[in-house]
Amino acid sequence: MKKLLASYGRDDEFRAVAEQIILEEEQKNNRVLARTLRKTLDNAQPATPAPRALAPLIPFPDAASDFVERIEPQHNKNDIVLSDENVRVFVDLMHEFRRGDEIRRRGLDVRSKLLFCGPPGCGKTLCAEVFAAELGLPLYVVKIDRLISSYLGETAANIRKIFEFARKQPCVLFLDEFDALARSRDDTSEHNELRRVVNSLLLFIDRIRPKGFMIAATNLDQSLDPAIWRRFDEVIWFDKPDRQMIERFLQLKFKNVALDFDPLAQAGKLEGYSYAEIERVCVQAIKSAVIHRRRTVREQDLRRAIADEVRRRSGRARLKASD
Ligand SMILES: Nc1ncnc2c1ncn2[C@@H]1O[C@H](COP(=O)(O)OP(=O)(O)OP(=O)(O)O)[C@@H](O)[C@H]1O
Ligand SMILES: [Mg+2]
Repeated sequence: MKKLLASYGRDDEFRAVAEQIILEEEQKNNRVLARTLRKTLDNAQPATPAPRALAPLIPFPDAASDFVERIEPQHNKNDIVLSDENVRVFVDLMHEFRRGDEIRRRGLDVRSKLLFCGPPGCGKTLCAEVFAAELGLPLYVVKIDRLISSYLGETAANIRKIFEFARKQPCVLFLDEFDALARSRDDTSEHNELRRVVNSLLLFIDRIRPKGFMIAATNLDQSLDPAIWRRFDEVIWFDKPDRQMIERFLQLKFKNVALDFDPLAQAGKLEGYSYAEIERVCVQAIKSAVIHRRRTVREQDLRRAIADEVRRRSGRARLKASD
């Protein structure tokens, strides 16, 4: 009971201790009590964590609300696998942010504009969420595609409002799918008005000194315009996982799952896949144990799920070939 109270506020730990109490009651043959406790635990919903905002929230300007959405982070640093190098970069950025006032007083700039690059499904969006959660800053996602497709003359004013807001409110302003912007800058056939919008967005990015961070994410790397690169204080790469990272990821995904085999033995087969793809494999393997009403996931479940992913990829390659 002491352990249970000590775990207050930490959902995973609370659940583990509660499970242990139920198990002990079952072993003591107190079946009715054990069953009631189990039912209560199963029905209990974990409380959604309160945002750890550092500053009171400034209301978001109405006109810009069509283009910006506040997202409540659902993940924390335990949910993401990052390379040691990236962990170091993020820890340094956090220290810099926390000492921001002192740094600025000395006339120096605080790094605040980040570009996340890398293939799909390798953690760019997830990391923006985790980073905001770790900093205790609210996360605002800018819907670039909407911003670009709505060139109605008011767009430049809306962009200004978004950035004005990020200048006052310490937050993480996330420009996801930044590629859309990079691409439309390239596209010579596009409307002049669109080009103007894109350029004014780039100009604002140039000028803005956010109180928190502005993060842009893109799938493009080399093909990204150098004019865009140089606007960022830091470029961070999110690569597909290598063997060691795959093993860490598998350990994370099967952390709370009963297995009767060592999943790391299958890691080699998952090389070349993204985290999102490997996650799908793990989820499918776990589901097949549920479907067959087994308590443990078997090696065969994982092998089948991998085979499905391989099949899916070969289908995609065929589609590409017929393009
Ligand atoms: N590094 C990672 N660690 C843990 N889980 C990950 C990681 N990368 C991806 N995932 C899983 O895959 C999902 C999709 O990843 P995410 O949306 O962050 O990819 P992305 O890089 O933003 O891709 P896209 O370029 O398509 O936007 C995540 O929600 C998470 O479940
Ligand atoms: Mg993304």
